[in-house]
Amino acid sequence: SGPDTYTPTGAPTTTPQDAVAQQGERLTTAQGAPLRDTDHSLKAGRRGPVLLQDHHLREKITHFDHERIPERVVHARGAAAHGVFVANGEAERYTSAAFLKAGTTTETFVRFSTVLGSRGSADTVRDTRGFATKFYTSEGVYDLVGNNIPVFFIQDAIKFPDIIHAGKPHPDREIPQAQSAHDTFWDFVSLHTEAQHHTIWNMSDRGIPRSYRMMQGFGIHTFRLVKTEADGSLATTLVKFHWRPRLGTHAVTWEEAQLISGKDPDFHRRDLADAIEAGAYPEWDFGIQVFPDTEDQTFHGIDLLDPTKIVPEELAPIVVVGTMTLNRNPSNYFAETEQVAFHPGHLVPGIDVTSDPLLQGRLFSYLDTQISRLGGPNFGQLPINRPHAEINDMLRDGMHQTVVHRGVAPYHPNSLDGGCPFPAMVTGGEAFTDVPQPIQQDVVTREQPASFDDHFSQARLFYRSLTPVEQLHVKQAYAFELGKVYEQAIKERQLQCLANIDAELCAFVANELGLPAPAPTEVVPDVEISPALRMVTDVAWPA
Ligand code: HEM
Repeated sequence: SGPDTYTPTGAPTTTPQDAVAQQGERLTTAQGAPLRDTDHSLKAGRRGPVLLQDHHLREKITHFDHERIPERVVHARGAAAHGVFVANGEAERYTSAAFLKAGTTTETFVRFSTVLGSRGSADTVRDTRGFATKFYTSEGVYDLVGNNIPVFFIQDAIKFPDIIHAGKPHPDREIPQAQSAHDTFWDFVSLHTEAQHHTIWNMSDRGIPRSYRMMQGFGIHTFRLVKTEADGSLATTLVKFHWRPRLGTHAVTWEEAQLISGKDPDFHRRDLADAIEAGAYPEWDFGIQVFPDTEDQTFHGIDLLDPTKIVPEELAPIVVVGTMTLNRNPSNYFAETEQVAFHPGHLVPGIDVTSDPLLQGRLFSYLDTQISRLGGPNFGQLPINRPHAEINDMLRDGMHQTVVHRGVAPYHPNSLDGGCPFPAMVTGGEAFTDVPQPIQQDVVTREQPASFDDHFSQARLFYRSLTPVEQLHVKQAYAFELGKVYEQAIKERQLQCLANIDAELCAFVANELGLPAPAPTEVVPDVEISPALRMVTDVAWPA
């Protein structure tokens, strides 16, 4: 007996036990019995029926029959790579997180994805892209599960099933939105106008990236960094996380995107793997926007708990805290890219969540979905998901348990396995601390803050920050996508939203649709144009 501890190997994929080459001197059954023949079934005579007795035939086909696991309910199509993150120490004044200390190198695994398409769908569709990073830190796994667009469609996770139902293929014909009827998507975003900001980013060139290597990444929510001061008190700061690609942020044109979808649906995953194989390792600077952790959690009037809002970089410049380089392709797509399990609740000491209601719901959803996608509660033991830190979790048994736990007393304190007196919780570091938060004196409510009701000002901010050519792409994208909507009432409702964003944008799209341009229904405050929002492109736009 002894402490309930196992130490993972540190290598996420290829420990001697895990990496089975499947080539050898002899072929065996799954139980190791040598086989003479794997190509012919056992029959009653050369021309006779196949015998149930053929245990090898049954084992081979049964295993094959169960090769597929459910695809992710969203972000099903993805491509991934291993990398390293090196911290420059700039975050040390805000957080105790060990992986953000100067000079610390941490292994990472990044999975890029589209949101709505199935596993076999095309890469260059118009969609948001996932940008999920697993940091295998010395204090456990930290996951930053972000996107390439800095805001989200909805403000409350309870609406996530609704927006995804609206965006996924139509239930009757299972025809994807991108190719046929667009009614449900536009019905949703025109009725739930908080989605208009995210949607205009999708209609811009951001919705059709040139390459995963040329995408920004955003944590979107505001997170809380925590630092333990010398006197033991906790100093907290609110932050937004940013990935900035060293190659710049680039898009394809819509015509290119459509052609590529037909000619090479694997365009983005091929591009990522080819670049890494050629030694052209993509790099991203990792940065934070820093805000004081005030009681109202706003910054210059922007509600930091509203995930449909950005904070312009003029107001809060990005502080670069490290750099990530992707330098190794997965050796097995299923074992790594498919079985990896990200979760916004995989936090390390020094990084905590906020009460953003979208983030709060995500904290439930990921573990829940992975229990069914990955077959039970033990998927953390899969090589790609193993922390590179010691595990002592007191968890036991369950489907697909592969660890043989030692000891008889999986509880603390205990007097049988050396668990009494209770061992020091943490040695040589700090424990995860839930930062105490004041509770507002409201009654329990489903209401949201009034600031969440501003749905158009930042959509206007984004649109007006674009160059004329980029604005033209946005106009054409709306005209194209809304042109696929059958219900006129939905087109009219979306035009109404565009009228609240920008009159000229609305007029262009209305004209293309052959409909009158409505007048705005809301007085939307004009906001200052943010040059920091400008998209870097590989085309020389007119000044
Ligand atoms: C998967 C991002 C909101 C539920 C993902 C993935 C990303 C992502 C990048 C793919 C991870 C991978 O590559 O394996 C985001 C962002 C959000 C957001 C940036 C908002 C800021 C939500 C919400 C919910 C949700 C509100 C549910 C309430 C899921 C689920 C998966 C997923 C169920 C599949 C996970 C799996 O099967 O492993 N999300 N998401 N997401 N997301 Fe989100």
